[in-house]
Formats: sequence, C-alpha cells, structure tokens
Amino acid sequence: MVYCVLLGLPGAGKGTQALNIASDRGILHISTGDMFREASANRTSLGLEAQEYMSKGELVPDDVTISMLLERIEEDDAASGFMLDGFPRTIKQAEALDIALESSRKQIEVVPYIKVPEDLLMARLTGRWSCPDCSAIYHTVTKAPEVDGVCDSCDSHLLQRSDDQPVTVKTRLDTNREWTEALATYYEDQNKLRVVDGTGDPYLITERIISVLDEIS
Ligand code: AP5
Ligand code: MG
Repeated sequence: MVYCVLLGLPGAGKGTQALNIASDRGILHISTGDMFREASANRTSLGLEAQEYMSKGELVPDDVTISMLLERIEEDDAASGFMLDGFPRTIKQAEALDIALESSRKQIEVVPYIKVPEDLLMARLTGRWSCPDCSAIYHTVTKAPEVDGVCDSCDSHLLQRSDDQPVTVKTRLDTNREWTEALATYYEDQNKLRVVDGTGDPYLITERIISVLDEIS
C-alpha cells in the first residue's frame, strides 16, 4: 500500500513509469491528463471545458481539476493506495490533496521526481503515439509498436495527442517548468521528494523508482 505522487515535466516519462509500476506492483495509476482526455472523447461538459485549455498547453483551472481528482480518490479501488500522475500541478492542488487525505488519516508518503534534461523532451513528445483504449505509450524511434499504428496490447489504432505538436509542447514546458520546481520544493520541505534520473532505458528507471518506493514500505 503506497500513496505516491510522480513528479516530472511533460515527457519525463510519468505515464510510461506509472504503467510499468502498476503492472509490476499492482499500484493503481491515476492520471488527470488521461481522465481529461477520456472526458473530452466522451464530449462531457467537463471534457469540453478541459479541452479548451489542453489544446493550448495550459493548465485546466484548479477548481475543476481538484474536484475531479478528489472524487476519483474516494472510489473503492483507491482505498489501498495510488500513484498520481500529473496531479498536483499547482501548490493549491497539493494543499487540497493533503487536506483531503488528512481527513481520512492518510498522507502522500513519497514523491519520485523524474528528472530529464529539457533538450530531450521535445523529441520524446513529438514522436509519441498512445493507445486511446488501454493508454499504452509508444514512440516512433525508442518504442515502436510491433505493427505500425497498432497497439501491441489491445490491437486498437494508436493516436498522436493533439497537444504534442511542437508549438504546444513548448507552451506546456513553459507552463509547467516553474510549477514543477515549486512542487519539488513543497515536497522537499515535507522530506518526501526523491529525485530519480529519468534518462536511459525505461526499465532501469522503473527499477530506480521501485527502490525509492521500497524505502518506505
Ligand atoms: P498530461 O497528460 O499529464 O501530460 P504531461 O504532464 O504534459 O505529461 P505527458 O503525458 O506529456 O508526459 P509523461 O511524463 O507522461 O511522458 P510519457 O511517459 O508519455 O496532461 C495533459 C494536459 O492535461 C495538461 O497540459 C493540462 O492541460 C491538463 N492537465 C492534466 N493534469 C492537470 C492538472 N493536475 N492541473 C491542470 N491541468 C492538468 O513519455 C513521453 C514519450 O517519451 C513517450 O513516447 C515515451 O515512449 C517516451 N519515453 C518515456 N521514457 C523514455 C525513456 N526513458 N527514454 C526514451 N524515451 C522515453
Ligand atoms: Mg502522461
């Protein structure tokens, strides 16, 4: 049982790592980006509102994001822990999460911060393809699917995210840079931050994160 936040800039590998760890350790993976994309695909009012911000590479407003995430972690499958990917992204979100967990006598225990030099991130994001059904993540160069454009796990057609265009990636990096550092300081002050080298083979990075998780269990 672990309550954990994965921190890292866009393209750092949060989704890739959370999926590896979910399959190795059975830890529930909750991604606010995936939740917004699903809502947008279903054309709900939340999804349409979120899409306006996502398509520009901006953050979805705190009130909408916080209530969606706090409702999600109230669900039964989150009762024995989770790994958050993409939340919190602002100090207000981090404080709201702490308060909500405190009310049920839980807390975030550890925050692996996946660090990757920024000059690697553009190529990672513009070459990414993802599965809209099972959320598997690929890359044209570093992790190509066995059949071009088809998910290895569930045979669905892979899609490129609309916010992975170079101009939007640049806005996303600009938007997230300061917030990510502010959140790193927030969790460092609580002695929960663990910096993890996010370069190299993804499975080596998974091992680095698992050893950080093992420190607290
Ligand atoms: P979100 O979906 O969370 O996007 P993000 O934070 O920009 O991060 P990414 O998903 O792009 O990157 P990742 O770190 O998961 O990397 P991945 O593993 O895919 O959010 C999208 C949008 O939703 C936001 O911009 C915002 O508008 C909104 N939103 C979401 N949460 C919000 C919140 N809390 N508040 C407000 N707004 C919110 O890897 C990337 C690529 O690199 C892949 O192709 C992968 O194969 C490759 N790769 C991974 N690891 C390696 C490696 N070790 N070596 C080489 N390539 C690698
Ligand atoms: Mg992701």
